[in-house]
Amino acid sequence: MGTDRCMVLLLLFIFFLVLTVCVRAQRTNTTTTEFTFRGFTGNQSLIQLSEAAMIKPDGLLRLNDRKPKVTGTAFYNKPVRLLETSGNSTTVASFSTSFVFVIIPTSTSNGGFGFTFTLSPTPDRPAADAAQFLGLLNRDNDGKLTNHVFAVEFDTVQGFEDVSDRSGNHIGLNFNSLKSNYQEPVVYYDSDESDRKEDFLLQSGDPIHALLDYDGPTQTLNFTVYPARLKSKPLRPLISQRVPNLLQIVQEEMYVGFTAATGRDESSAHYVMGWSFSSGVDRPLAQPLNLSDLPTPPPNIAKNTGYDPQVLALIVALSGVTLILLGLLFFFLMYKKRLQRGEILEDWEINHPHRLRYKDLYAATDGFNANRIIGTGGFGTVYRGSFSSSSVDQIAVKKITPNSMQGVREFVAEIESLGRLRHKNLVNLQGWCKHKNDLLLIYDYIPNGSLDSLLYTRPRQSGAVLSWNPRFQIAKGVASGLLYLHEEWEKIVIHRDVKPSNVLIDDNMNPRLGDFGLARLYERETLSRTTVIVGTIGYMAPELTRNGKSSTASDVFAFGVLLLEIVSGRRPTDSGTFFLADWVMELRETGDILPAVDPRLGSGYDSSEAKLALSVGLLCCHQRPASRPSMRMVIRYLNGEEDIPEIEDHWGYSEHSSRRSKFEGYVSSDKASSSSVASFSVTRVSSSSVIMSGR
Ligand SMILES: *[C@@H]1O[C@H](CO)[C@@H](O)[C@H](O)[C@H]1NC(C)=O
Ligand SMILES: *[C@@H]1O[C@H](CO)[C@@H](O)[C@H](O)[C@H]1NC(C)=O
Ligand SMILES: *[C@@H]1O[C@H](CO)[C@@H](O)[C@H](O)[C@H]1NC(C)=O
Ligand SMILES: *[C@@H]1O[C@H](CO)[C@@H](O)[C@H](O)[C@H]1NC(C)=O
Ligand SMILES: *[C@@H]1O[C@H](CO)[C@@H](O)[C@H](O)[C@H]1NC(C)=O
Repeated sequence: MGTDRCMVLLLLFIFFLVLTVCVRAQRTNTTTTEFTFRGFTGNQSLIQLSEAAMIKPDGLLRLNDRKPKVTGTAFYNKPVRLLETSGNSTTVASFSTSFVFVIIPTSTSNGGFGFTFTLSPTPDRPAADAAQFLGLLNRDNDGKLTNHVFAVEFDTVQGFEDVSDRSGNHIGLNFNSLKSNYQEPVVYYDSDESDRKEDFLLQSGDPIHALLDYDGPTQTLNFTVYPARLKSKPLRPLISQRVPNLLQIVQEEMYVGFTAATGRDESSAHYVMGWSFSSGVDRPLAQPLNLSDLPTPPPNIAKNTGYDPQVLALIVALSGVTLILLGLLFFFLMYKKRLQRGEILEDWEINHPHRLRYKDLYAATDGFNANRIIGTGGFGTVYRGSFSSSSVDQIAVKKITPNSMQGVREFVAEIESLGRLRHKNLVNLQGWCKHKNDLLLIYDYIPNGSLDSLLYTRPRQSGAVLSWNPRFQIAKGVASGLLYLHEEWEKIVIHRDVKPSNVLIDDNMNPRLGDFGLARLYERETLSRTTVIVGTIGYMAPELTRNGKSSTASDVFAFGVLLLEIVSGRRPTDSGTFFLADWVMELRETGDILPAVDPRLGSGYDSSEAKLALSVGLLCCHQRPASRPSMRMVIRYLNGEEDIPEIEDHWGYSEHSSRRSKFEGYVSSDKASSSSVASFSVTRVSSSSVIMSGR
């Protein structure tokens, strides 16, 4: 009996043992899947690649490059069985995975769209879209229960449609949809016990470690992500979440892998350096990945510039060019600035002791202030200025804009010598300065104004008629100044524009001739071989209209007119009917020249001196240049040292053509301009000076 009971017990035990094993075998219908890729070299056949995905020769799995709007997927090519049936209940088996990835964005601020770790019923994702669909789904199937996909999304672009992706740099748990059920910004918990979080960028370009553990019995999914440079993995996962709905996703056979995509404007290259996976055992744990065993991470070409080498080279080249242009601009501006101050000189300007600095003139005239203007006309505007505060050092600055630099060059050459002219009847030229297109001439400041104003303006204003003695002294002084220019200096200087407004009167009623030689600036041979002559109507010698050549004789003619004007107090011509020299000559022919004397003087004049002056004036106005006296002779006549020669030939006019000739001789340019338009053109450059051109 005892042995029988023993046998029965033994059989029962064996039966139960067999039963238990059978039940157990029935319960667990899962196969173990386990793999580790430390780099993908030699394991290409195990990975199913689609679209842009490829395994690089160095072993890196590149899901996609940075072209816009591309997708790429890579799945382990064998299905993974994750369904676990126990009696009439089914659960998702535990699994674990670990991978190291790198995201290289276009630029540190502009990358996208992201990638996923995916459980998918297929080993590729046909018809999946790029950009926010991450190569996982498309607009049509997004959110459908029939998708059977679960994905951990590594998104680097903010906001997908409903802006449910709160932050650009985030992790999401997605079930059949790109709308994340759970979502966390990318941080890791420091390994110490505290809750201290450290955030970091997915698209930093550095290797990043991701760990995903799913515990089947508790339906808990733990997810951890951290920079691979950390020595140990964080103790606390970023996401620890119950995910019962995983059961609705997982089918009999699932594939594990990655999907990735770029956007139109946002693009990053997504790389996987190593990947381990484990499922089907009680507490599966994916093989740890040691960074030193993995292939070298892709070069982070986005880190500093965000551009690839060609673009980089282009940028460097462009910046170089820009820099050079900026440099040139800078030097140009400096040059201009210095030019404005007159400190950069053309060759011909150097070594001229009388050249003054524009800066100084600018300061001396208060920046050419309008209230410093003491006269306009002649050839430009005249400003009063002073180099120091004392009124002794006052200067007059004449600002001229000549119409050719050639003229200036010649004039300056002359000025350099003119600057050395020293005579009590000349306005002292202190210097000159060329600034841009202007020529600035610096003269002594002469306080009493011009002979013109003494003869006409002042008597009109205050009745102060210039009396005889100063008139005669002024005439002699002007003659003396002209003589100096013509004969007494080392070179012959032709004044070219003798007239009352160019005779300045100083404190001692001493006349000073100004503007000598200035007309030269406007005299030139033009391209059409037209000689341009310059002068003032009424003072221009008749021969000027024929050959255009200024000479000492043409200066003498102008002086003659000036002399008649000083005595008579009348302008050389009015609007057309009156001509001073004609009138005086006619009076002389009647035998009494004295009525020509300024009536405002009354009897307050020396009649012999007046007679002398009028005769000398007429003599100087002779039609033929050769018959005019020299200035030396003029002075001798005026001083009574020589008798005036009798003039028998009517000053060069033939009797029968007297009228026509007369007008030609004395009216000079004024009449010529209107009567013989064909050969002359006259341009007024100011109220008193004209430029006249004739062939
Ligand atoms: C697991 O179940 C599937 C069908 O549900 C069957 O085809 C397969 O043979 C089973 N495997 C084992 C090891 O029982
Ligand atoms: C990958 O390839 C290497 C070298 O050929 C091999 O040692 C390793 O076992 C392979 N890994 C897998 C998961 O097959
Ligand atoms: C199997 O299913 C039945 C009803 O469908 C249920 O009552 C029973 O508890 C289930 N057994 C197990 C082991 O879950
Ligand atoms: C998930 O994380 C929690 C909290 O750290 C831990 O208690 C649990 O054991 C983890 N589960 C797995 C499967 O790793
Ligand atoms: C990684 O590899 C290095 C050298 O091969 C070794 O010293 C280190 O302990 C390894 N780390 C881990 C976590 O296995």
